[in-house]
Amino acid sequence: MESRGTNDGRTERAPATGTNPATTSGRAAGESLDPRAAAVADRLRAANRRQSRRIAASVLARSLRSHLGGGRGSVSGGGDGRSWMRDKLDAMDPTKAQICYVTARTLGARRVVEAGTGFGYSTIHLAAAVRDNVADGAGSATVTPAVFGTEFEPTKAAAARANLAEAGLDDLATVLDGDLRESLPTVDGPIDLMVLDVWIDMAAPALAATLDALRPGAVVLANNVVVAAAQYAEYLAVVRDPNGPFRSSTLPLRGGMEVSVRR
Ligand SMILES: C[S@@+](CC[C@H](N)C(=O)[O-])C[C@H]1O[C@@H](n2cnc3c(N)ncnc32)[C@H](O)[C@@H]1O
Repeated sequence: MESRGTNDGRTERAPATGTNPATTSGRAAGESLDPRAAAVADRLRAANRRQSRRIAASVLARSLRSHLGGGRGSVSGGGDGRSWMRDKLDAMDPTKAQICYVTARTLGARRVVEAGTGFGYSTIHLAAAVRDNVADGAGSATVTPAVFGTEFEPTKAAAARANLAEAGLDDLATVLDGDLRESLPTVDGPIDLMVLDVWIDMAAPALAATLDALRPGAVVLANNVVVAAAQYAEYLAVVRDPNGPFRSSTLPLRGGMEVSVRR
């Protein structure tokens, strides 16, 4: 099974069980989406919460059955990890999604890439920020505004496109199909912001594929670097290298979020 960066603050190689307090407490403080985008984000967040609860209950039941049955059975529900994850939203923590929005606004970002789009929850926040930057005249007027998501599950990519359209953001956001190791190198710079919310073994390849397109001062946000520090080792070695191309720090959010600035 591949490594995954699940958004419930647990480590990779396990199904998401969804106990994120921000997810269960409703909208993050200070959320900045307009009503149309917020309605879609709220629906995705509620679906994520319901799905996480169902998974948690099912994992508990399987675990109990396995325990009572003398250790037989699997808490992951069996099957390979990718097919099990196919219908899982695994949406970003709302507080972190809001941080994505605020970071994009702070940078005046007009060109953004995202590794791991899923059903488009975090992408909605990124596209809303770019739209608001353009409306406010923030950032470089010579840069064509665009957000590029990446998603290799066709059903998730289609759902993300539909959600972005419903949010009124599909004119700005493009979801690139296929493996990000092939799609990200097709995105031209200058990139102002990159968000990594992807299965963790893809973090280092995603960064490598985008490194040359990141402008000086660009920011890279990587989700769950504390809870999955071991799996992020290769990625963190790059962004924390004092002689490397970044300066970096860890935001002490649940699961951790690495914020790195391109030199
Ligand atoms: C944590 S989920 C993304 C959640 C999303 N950011 C949100 O807030 O709703 C990670 C996603 O990365 C996708 N993914 C994993 N490996 C990939 C790869 N090599 N190329 C493209 N997408 C990939 C998975 O299918 C999954 O939907």
